[in-house]
Amino acid sequence: MIYKTPQIIYIMKKYIFIFFGILFLNVALLPLVAQDIVLPAPDKTGGKPLMQALNERQTTRTYTTDSLTRQQLSDLLWAGFGINRPEQGKRTAPSAMNWQEIDIYVTLPQGSYVYIAASHSLKFINNKDLRKETGGQSFVADAALNIVYVADMSKRGKKEGDEIKDSDLFMTYADAAFIAQNIYLYCASANLGCVVRGSVPAGNLETELGLKASQKIIIAQTVGVPGKQE
Ligand SMILES: Cc1cc2nc3c(=O)[nH]c(=O)nc-3n(C[C@H](O)[C@H](O)[C@H](O)COP(=O)(O)O)c2cc1C
Repeated sequence: MIYKTPQIIYIMKKYIFIFFGILFLNVALLPLVAQDIVLPAPDKTGGKPLMQALNERQTTRTYTTDSLTRQQLSDLLWAGFGINRPEQGKRTAPSAMNWQEIDIYVTLPQGSYVYIAASHSLKFINNKDLRKETGGQSFVADAALNIVYVADMSKRGKKEGDEIKDSDLFMTYADAAFIAQNIYLYCASANLGCVVRGSVPAGNLETELGLKASQKIIIAQTVGVPGKQE
């Protein structure tokens, strides 16, 4: 078959149109699929002196409904369990045997995420507000965010279906507590409130967060803008 020039131009136009159409659809639909949050770089220089932050560390149980800024979220997560020695991949909190088995799940009004320290980003899980599912106390549903500390026991050699006994978790409880204390100190430094919570209701939170059998919820922590203290 021999194409004449107008025909070639028509075919070329058609394929250019299709190409740009697909490109446009990809760009337009991308935000609906890729809802991960890339956090701004943490501010590692600011904050109150350590001794002052220790002096002001406290538990808060009254919050406003105000959100945290992206910068506060970034600083908080980095302070909690970010990477502070990139050449070794080591973190701001210690972990037994350097297992780094604790993952920080973040429940915000707009959805749930898990903190990925390597890229300092929040990986999207779902767009449900699961804050109230993380605790029974009244402030939990309204505070800006609730953190759920989840142990990934596959990093400690457990396989799917293996039994996880309480005695397997001793070191892991300690590992989560170090992160929670880092966040207490960040909150004191940033004039935010927080409370670490041992009470996390057994319910459908594991399912909602998409946890595997080898992942165990250890503790939770509420963070927010302090309200008028009672
Ligand atoms: C392991 C652990 C579990 C806790 N669980 C809860 C909890 O479920 N709910 C709560 O309101 N406070 C909880 N707290 C906070 C303590 O009640 C609080 O730290 C204590 O009253 C001392 O107050 P402070 O943190 O202001 O010094 C917990 C603290 C720890 C260390």
